[in-house]
Amino acid sequence: MRSLVSEVHVRVDDLIAPLFVREGIDEPQPIESLPGVMQHTLESLGTEVRELKALGVKAVILFGVPAVKDAEGSGAFDPDGIVQVALRQLVAEHGESIVLMADLCVDEYTDHGHCGIVHEGADGRMVVDNDATLEIYAKAALAQAEAGAHVVAPSGMMDGQVAVIRETLDDAGFSEVAILAYAAKYASALYGPFRDAVDVTIADGGDRQGYQQDHRNAREAIREVELDLAEGADMVMVKPALAYLDVISDVASRVDVPLAAYHVSGEYAMIHAAGERGWIDTDAVALEHLTAIKRAGANIILTYFTRWFAEQAAR
Ligand code: PBG
Repeated sequence: MRSLVSEVHVRVDDLIAPLFVREGIDEPQPIESLPGVMQHTLESLGTEVRELKALGVKAVILFGVPAVKDAEGSGAFDPDGIVQVALRQLVAEHGESIVLMADLCVDEYTDHGHCGIVHEGADGRMVVDNDATLEIYAKAALAQAEAGAHVVAPSGMMDGQVAVIRETLDDAGFSEVAILAYAAKYASALYGPFRDAVDVTIADGGDRQGYQQDHRNAREAIREVELDLAEGADMVMVKPALAYLDVISDVASRVDVPLAAYHVSGEYAMIHAAGERGWIDTDAVALEHLTAIKRAGANIILTYFTRWFAEQAAR
């Protein structure tokens, strides 16, 4: 009876699996702060995607860990950068039978760990140059589209990034490549384990408060979403998820495009850490969280629980 009258359902179809692929390793590397998640080799990535697809998962999003980082993050737009190589491999095997998304940012690729080109500000601190960064995002979008990405997902929170990417893709004949915009992305303390996963330390004890949103602001999120939609985003995202259910709900009631929410690394890690101590029931809390995110109004969830959820559903 309860199932019959339940209002919200999480389906495998709603989930996107974030996957990490690292250049220059021979064996997949476990990520300590993300139990069960790996930095993949090209080979183990291939296996993972094959298995996810067999479990019914419809989409993955790729993050790259380059062997060498530099000031511009050139691995993000090099045609032979690790994500581009991985995309070509996956497209060759799967075509369009699983949606291949690429996170579009440079923080994994820069030696200073920021999401763009930096210069020294008046007070000696690093400042990200918004407009110079747009030029490298355009190059990264092109490299990802040429490598076969079906969806590019700009996550750097630079102003105007969606417009520049849309124009670049259209001019190059990639009008079919969709944009999932990380539209309302907060400068959150919940990204810690992700930074372990991509080996990122922000230089000089810096942070991303100059370009990501302040967690005290909700109306600002609506403005960010509206701007991204006006610039041509096909889908928008709120990130993180649980601490921002009000924002998800608000955005859901105002927009008519698919809305994604990112249940981020820290959210996943907290559940596992408490579960390992026997303080909570990991599986029950995971399901409760995913359900809450859908109940708030998200259509799509990016979550490290995707494989687990699909395995449960298959049983
Ligand atoms: C930026 C990016 C980040 C995450 C996704 N894309 C890190 C950041 O903004 O610092 C975090 C995802 C997570 O914590 O799971 N490329």
